[in-house]
Amino acid sequence: MMTRKLFAFLAFVLMGASFAASIVYAAEGEKPVKIEYRFSPPAPREQPGATFEEREAAVLAKSKGCYSCHIQTDAPSMHATPAVQLGCVDCHGGDAESPAAFGNAKLGYDNPYNLAAKKVAHTQPTLPDSWGHSPANPKRSYTLLNKESPEFIRFVNPSDYRVAREACGACHLEVIEATERSLMSTGAMLWGGAAYNNGIIPYKNYIFGEAYTRSGEPALPAVADDVDERRRL
Ligand code: HEC
Ligand code: HEC
Ligand code: HEC
Repeated sequence: MMTRKLFAFLAFVLMGASFAASIVYAAEGEKPVKIEYRFSPPAPREQPGATFEEREAAVLAKSKGCYSCHIQTDAPSMHATPAVQLGCVDCHGGDAESPAAFGNAKLGYDNPYNLAAKKVAHTQPTLPDSWGHSPANPKRSYTLLNKESPEFIRFVNPSDYRVAREACGACHLEVIEATERSLMSTGAMLWGGAAYNNGIIPYKNYIFGEAYTRSGEPALPAVADDVDERRRL
C-alpha cells in the first residue's frame, strides 16, 4: 500500500514537472503584473437580513455595478430557483460597488469610460499578454491558469476546482470533495488507459492523473482509507 502511494505521488510529481515546462512555454517571457486584489469573501450560505426582501437587497448590492453593463438574466444567481440568493461577486469576485466600477452601456463598450469602468469591475489577470487582453480564453488555457492568480480564475470560472470551494463550497462542499477525486477532474481514464494499453505500466487501477491545487501545484487526490477494503468486496 505504502509503495503504491509513493508511486502515485511520484507519478503526479513527474507529470507536474512536465506540465511546468509547457506552462513556461504558454506564458513565455511574460512577467506577472503585481495586482493588489480587492478581497472577495467566499459566497455565503445565507445572505444577511431577516426577511427575503432584505436578503435580496444584499444580493442586489453585490450585483449592482455588474448590471450597469450586463443585462439582467433570467437566473441572476445562475440557479433557476429563487431560493438560492447570490450576488454576482459572491461567485465571481470583482467590484460591484465602487463608483468607478459602474459603466454606462449606452456609450458602447469600446468607449474609454466603459473600458476604465470594466477594468475596475472585472478582476484582472496577472498575465494580460498571455490572455490576449481579451476575455475570450486562448486555446488550451488549462495549464496557463496554473500561472494565474486564483482571483482571476474565480472571476473567469467560479466553478474551476482550483477555486470552487470559495464560490460554491458553502453549499456544495460534499459534491466538490467527491468530484475532485473523480475521473471528470483528474482525467485518470485518459492517462491510465494510454499507459496500460501501450504497455507502459502493468496496472489497471489508474495511478496517473492531472489535477491542480489553488496555487497551481500538482494535486494528489487523497484516497479514502477504506478504499482497499471496498475493492475486495
Ligand atoms: C463597464 C462595463 C462592465 C461592467 C461594469 C462589468 N462588465 Fe463584465 N463584461 C463587460 C463586457 C463588455 C464583457 C465582454 C468581454 C469584454 O469585452 O471584456 C464582459 C465580460 C464578462 C465576463 C466574461 C469573462 C470571460 O473571460 O469569459 C464575466 C464573467 C463578467 N463580465 C462578469 C462581470 C461581473 C461579475 C461584473 C461585476 C462585478 C461585471 N462583469 C461588470 C462589461 C462590463
Ligand atoms: C452561483 C455562482 C454564480 C453567480 C451568483 C453568478 N455567476 Fe456568472 N458564472 C458562474 C459560472 C460557474 C460560470 C461559468 C464559467 C465558465 O463556464 O467558464 C459563469 C459564467 C458567467 C459569464 C460568462 C459567460 C461566458 O459565456 O463565458 C458571465 C458574463 C457571467 N457569469 C456574469 C455573471 C453576472 C453578471 C452575475 C450576476 C448577475 C453572475 N454571473 C452571477 C457562476 C456564477
Ligand atoms: C448559497 C448556496 C449555494 C451556492 C453558493 C451555490 N449553490 Fe448551487 N445549488 C444550491 C441549491 C440550494 C441547489 C438546489 C436547487 C434546487 O434543487 O432547485 C443548487 C443546485 C445546483 C446545481 C444543480 C444540481 C442538480 O442536481 O440539478 C448545480 C449544477 C449547481 N448548484 C452548481 C453550483 C456551482 C458551480 C456553484 C459555484 C460556482 C454553486 N452552485 C454555488 C445552492 C448553492
